[in-house]
Amino acid sequence: MGTLIAYSSTLGCTEQCVSRLKGDLGPGVDLYRISRRRKINFSKYRTVIIGGSIHEGMIQRAVRSFCETNLKELLKVEVGLFICCVDPGENEDELLKEVFPDKLLGHALAKSYFGGELNFKKMNLMQKIMTRKKERLEVMPEIDFDRILAFAERLQERNA
Ligand SMILES: Cc1cc2nc3c(=O)[nH]c(=O)nc-3n(C[C@H](O)[C@H](O)[C@H](O)COP(=O)(O)O)c2cc1C
Repeated sequence: MGTLIAYSSTLGCTEQCVSRLKGDLGPGVDLYRISRRRKINFSKYRTVIIGGSIHEGMIQRAVRSFCETNLKELLKVEVGLFICCVDPGENEDELLKEVFPDKLLGHALAKSYFGGELNFKKMNLMQKIMTRKKERLEVMPEIDFDRILAFAERLQERNA
């Protein structure tokens, strides 16, 4: 039985993380971009990983609604949850609690924050204005590839 990574990415950073995670997990991983409407056959999967990025304090609505609509099915499989963003605040766990349903969070085997990037080249004017303050950050935020690997290893440990 395989692994499904269901994700949403507004400007491509989460997609990049997903591609790295797929590589770290090895064979048997399917990808599903949540914005595309397709029925998932959950019986094919032992593990379902769900991730998205934070915009104005919230994860994509499609990610939230994917979790809520499929909650019953998701509670029957092994679950991993992750977020991408540039400023998770003092406590990443608090942010995870805000964006994923409590029941799913309690059920998840692995939860993580993968860092993020500010991809100004891909932003429209509105997005540039909204992230202007972050543009003045001293250190540009980056994807944390070590955390992606640790997340993959945690799921593999549990699957061994
Ligand atoms: C309009 C906009 C709003 C954002 N708001 C937040 C935010 O509230 N908190 C945060 O930590 N990062 C915020 N970010 C940064 C994104 O989470 C970060 O760029 C992430 O890597 C984007 O992933 P994606 O390309 O997969 O959508 C924002 C980015 C944009 C463009």
